[in-house]
Amino acid sequence: MDLLSVRLTINYKDKPPVLDELCLDLRPGEVLGLVGHSGCGKSSLALAILGLLNLKGGKARGSILWDGHELLALKEKEWRKLRGKVISFVPQSPMSALNPALRLGTQMNEAWKLHGHGGSDHMEESVFQALRDVGLPPNEEFLRRYPSEISVGQAQRVLIGMAIMHRPALLIADEPTSALDAVTQAEILALFGELNRKLGMSMLFISHDLVSAYGLCHRIALINAGKIVECNTPQAIFFSPQQPFTKKLIAALPTVPSPAEVEQALRYNTF
Ligand SMILES: Nc1ncnc2c1ncn2[C@@H]1O[C@H](COP(=O)(O)OP(=O)(O)OP(=O)(O)O)[C@@H](O)[C@H]1O
Ligand SMILES: [Mg+2]
Repeated sequence: MDLLSVRLTINYKDKPPVLDELCLDLRPGEVLGLVGHSGCGKSSLALAILGLLNLKGGKARGSILWDGHELLALKEKEWRKLRGKVISFVPQSPMSALNPALRLGTQMNEAWKLHGHGGSDHMEESVFQALRDVGLPPNEEFLRRYPSEISVGQAQRVLIGMAIMHRPALLIADEPTSALDAVTQAEILALFGELNRKLGMSMLFISHDLVSAYGLCHRIALINAGKIVECNTPQAIFFSPQQPFTKKLIAALPTVPSPAEVEQALRYNTF
């Protein structure tokens, strides 16, 4: 059975639907990429799955089945039990997601307290374990720092650590690497892959960048005009795209010039 099965129409106020009976299924243990251009409704879908769409004035109709249970029927109190524990979230801009006025330790402790049980020993061990899980130094010195005292890549690791602290079954990451440089981006993508293998955690990886989804995702779903246009393995999407939209997207990808092409360009260089 699918872990998550979505059939959704989303709209804001009286505007036409952003997502129009969009269908998406996610299997247990799978990393599913959701790729589409800016404004196509990726974040709206993530907010709906987290039960937060109404906070932004959006309305979701249809069905979000989680392990066979209808999430759209949940009351806010029931959402709160799921959010951050069973379904977790990693935001796009790590620096604006962390509170600049609070030490990292305080913020990680708060994340633990949302769902943690037991005394402060449990909390300390969970926080150190989360730091180890995301490749950060598990010590007091690091936890005493403020967000301004760490790099943006480290900040993203802190947020991922907070998101996986309660061992969620699904991690939704909305453009988690867009604010990062290419090297840090690759490191964070590798970390997601490692967490998926090590913890068996499913993931919905949201991005506008098809290339970053290629190495991480088991399947990629392309979204356009409110629907999933094509959903397949990265290999199939890249090397045998079926839909005109996908073909256009693949053809538009930048390519690295070959040495011969560089040499030829230099030969005709007139300055
Ligand atoms: N609170 C809101 N009120 C009205 N319209 C909104 C609201 N939030 C988003 N929208 C509109 O819904 C559409 C989808 O927005 P959404 O943020 O889900 O797209 P996105 O794919 O996540 O874009 P991006 O890649 O830029 O993050 C956009 O046209 C946006 O203008
Ligand atoms: Mg978005």
